[in-house]
Amino acid sequence: MKSFQLPKDFLMGSATAATQIEGGHTGSNWCRWCEEGHIKDGSSCIRANDHWNRYAEDVEWMRKLNHRVYRMGLEWSRIEPEKGNFDKSAIDHYRDEISLLLKNNIKPLVTLHHFSHPLWFCEEGEFENEKSVSYFERYVSFVVENLGDLVSEYITINEPNVYAVMGYYFALWPPGKKDIKLLLRVYRNMTLCHIAAYRAIHRIRREKGFEGKTMVGVANHLRVFVPYNKNPVNYVSAKIMDYLFQGAITRMMSYGRLLSFGRHRKKYYDFIGINYYTRSAVKGFSDKTLPGRPVNDLGWEIYPEGLYLLCRKYHRKYKAPVWITENGTCDEKDEFRAMFIYDHLYQVYRLINDGIPVERYYHWTLMDNFEWIEGESARFGLIHVDFETQKRTMRKSGEFYSQICRENLVSEELIRKYLG
Ligand code: FCB
Repeated sequence: MKSFQLPKDFLMGSATAATQIEGGHTGSNWCRWCEEGHIKDGSSCIRANDHWNRYAEDVEWMRKLNHRVYRMGLEWSRIEPEKGNFDKSAIDHYRDEISLLLKNNIKPLVTLHHFSHPLWFCEEGEFENEKSVSYFERYVSFVVENLGDLVSEYITINEPNVYAVMGYYFALWPPGKKDIKLLLRVYRNMTLCHIAAYRAIHRIRREKGFEGKTMVGVANHLRVFVPYNKNPVNYVSAKIMDYLFQGAITRMMSYGRLLSFGRHRKKYYDFIGINYYTRSAVKGFSDKTLPGRPVNDLGWEIYPEGLYLLCRKYHRKYKAPVWITENGTCDEKDEFRAMFIYDHLYQVYRLINDGIPVERYYHWTLMDNFEWIEGESARFGLIHVDFETQKRTMRKSGEFYSQICRENLVSEELIRKYLG
């Protein structure tokens, strides 16, 4: 195992989402989904990590982890609990949290939509309705007018493909539908939402003369698709799945259309956000794991080279700085997370050496949290959380990561100590 040094200006931290950590709130589609009993272990995001009240303690943990950046979400349903009525106290709460991050030299990257939204928005047909575009733009404008002096970097929408496929194809997430026509409409409207938000964020920050370089993008969920075996049918299916699940939507979000050519097309991204977890082996049109490969607690294959392949591929296509906006693993016993971090950061090191401008790494996630339909049972945290007592405890892999973040260095000493 090799020691390696990442560039000094490479920024590392972690990522979370509001619904997964805040708790104490009932006004969103996900709160309702939990109350309806869809969560596998019966837990609910209404409890989560009580981060809403404990954010100061959690920022302290980030400091211990030597974070220089932190990706956090806003809960739209707290900020706009009723259609058109904004709650100033909610935005002030976020201002306090962000100010504390800045005081600790941790730069925030703010996600505006991470799978959850207000119930009134559900009643209006969510992203199935084209009106979602004006609703989303109004919410985003309010946020940027009120936080834009503190925050220059935004993710408009997290993983539109996962949102749409889980909610409109598998019916496992809200709104629990199976309807391809609706799914395509959701894709279209989410694209329009993203573009409206992209423009609004740039315009408002420019007009108000807010400092710092405005950076806006999408966090794209990307995976590697390979054929399950040598059957040529699976080879073709893997290509099709790759395009349908991620290629097409990423292109739409980036250029506002599927067919766009030439150097003068408009682009709606300032960085390429990549959430990377695993590889899918395609058999027919189903998604499997190659036999004999290492997997995490959820059965997701651990395939670090995939990070290299995807960052290189998407950088070649979209030519912008790459930010790894999520990467991490589910490992309750903390047996392989440190190795996972080493292996994936090593791919980052290779990418940078090969001239791909990878600038950021946000580990998923800071602490165990509410993992959507898996509930509290799926543990991705650098920090262990006892949800009953809300006690946080640093994991060994968290210590390892914090040591790396100190100087962006994976030294021989760290390798000996943590990877034995
Ligand atoms: C991603 C989600 C994130 C978390 C991780 C494990 O798809 O964006 O909220 O659930 O997976």
